[in-house]
Amino acid sequence: MEVIVNGHIMRYTEAGSADRPVVIFIHGFPFNQSMWHPQIEALRGSFRVITYDIRGHGDSEFGRDELSIALFAEDLIGLMDELEIPKAIVCGLSMGGYIALRAITVYPDRFSALILSDTQCVADSPEARTKRIAAIENIKKHGVEEYAMQSLNNLLPPETLNAQIDLVTRIKDMILSTSRQTLCDTLMALANREETCTRLSNIQVPALILVGSEDKITPLAAANRMYSQIPNAKMHVIEGAGHLPNMEKTEAFNGYVVEFLRSLHV
Ligand code: MLT
Repeated sequence: MEVIVNGHIMRYTEAGSADRPVVIFIHGFPFNQSMWHPQIEALRGSFRVITYDIRGHGDSEFGRDELSIALFAEDLIGLMDELEIPKAIVCGLSMGGYIALRAITVYPDRFSALILSDTQCVADSPEARTKRIAAIENIKKHGVEEYAMQSLNNLLPPETLNAQIDLVTRIKDMILSTSRQTLCDTLMALANREETCTRLSNIQVPALILVGSEDKITPLAAANRMYSQIPNAKMHVIEGAGHLPNMEKTEAFNGYVVEFLRSLHV
């Protein structure tokens, strides 16, 4: 399905019944909405589940604007407006979490609960920025393959890399299918993002924080920091998972999400 949001064609998927509470999933970088298949299957019986491709990613158009996390958050609100969704539960993983945090701090009335997986509230440190700029140069010079291989080693722990070959292939394919322009411009958007830590204490809705015990990109300390600052938050560590627990340890991830959604009594 598609909709025009802020001047670009956004592709999205809807499952479940229209009269149920809405849960919107936002994917990480550089992936696409297909990463949420296991969650669609788990929730479609009780919720109206929506996933979408962030502009430039998956099948959504890039559009003409300069990419930023703020723009991605406006796109999320634009999607909700187009689908006439006044309020939703939102779940964002990593970059999806940056977008969810930006959106909820700017538009608090549009969200009824928040799920943050493997994400953080800080902006990039000077070192992280320098690494992103080096990655951009590298992709421009050498293409995406080397970037994809390095990313996999950061995203997944050795056990997953060795044992879940199909998953590794799927993740690699998602990275390789992302255009160079999207990779480079989103890396710049990530490097330029604003922190949201100073606004976490204003979040009034129930929040669930999940993190893989082996996440090297947004580690446990980053999750703990958010947990200590969001007033009504619960947190769980997903043992053995790296940066993508919804795909690596689907059962544990879905279990925590379902438990949290049930506790909302929606
Ligand atoms: C992601 O998974 O979205 C990225 O790792 C986020 C980041 O690099 O900051």
